Amino acid sequence: MKNIAILASGSGSNAEKIISHFQGSTKARIALIASNKKGAYVLERAKKLNVPSHVFSKAELESGEFTEVLRDQKIDFVVLAGFLLQIPGNLIQAFPDLMVNIHPALLPNYGGKGMYGDNVHRAVKAAGDTETGITIHLVNENYDEGKIIFQTAVAVGENDSPEQIAEKVHVLEHKYYPKIIESLI
Ligand code: GRF
Repeated sequence: MKNIAILASGSGSNAEKIISHFQGSTKARIALIASNKKGAYVLERAKKLNVPSHVFSKAELESGEFTEVLRDQKIDFVVLAGFLLQIPGNLIQAFPDLMVNIHPALLPNYGGKGMYGDNVHRAVKAAGDTETGITIHLVNENYDEGKIIFQTAVAVGENDSPEQIAEKVHVLEHKYYPKIIESLI
C-alpha cells in the first residue's frame, strides 16, 4: 500500500476527487492533506472525508522541516493539486520522479510565474485560443517544466467567459487526474 500526500492551497476539488478515487483501493491511500493556508477549504474537505491534515508555513517548506513530516508519515508519492508555493530543492530531491502537478492549460503555453488559477483562463480568453486543456507533469525545480505525463484538450467557444473555461478545465481535471496518479504509483 503506497501512501500519497496531497498538497493544496485552495478549494481542493481535485483533492476530493483523488481521495474518493482511492477509497477502498488496495494500491494506495491518501495518507495526508497538507496545506500552506490555514483557512483553505481543502482542510474542511479533508475533515469531512476523514483524511489527516497538516498545515505548514513557507519557512517550514523551505527549511526542509515539512519534508521531514512527509518522511515521518512514510509518504511515497506527492500530488500537487492547486498548490501555490514554489517547491524547494529539498522536497524535490526527497521525491525524485515521485511528485506530480496538474496545470490548467496546455503547457508549455500559459505556464510559469503568475500563471495560476484564473490568470491562466483569462490569458487563454484574451489570446482568442480555440482550445485549452490540462497538463499533468512531474515536478522539477523549474515551475511547470517537468516531464509531461498527460495532456488533453477541450474546445473554447468564442463567447466562453474565463469562468466557463475554468469549469470546462475542472471537468477534465476531475476526470483524469485520479486515473493518471493511479497509473504512476
Ligand atoms: C486547478 O485548476 C489546478 O489545475 C490548478 O489549481 C486548481 C485547483 O483547483 N493547479 P481545486 O482547488 O482542486 O478546485
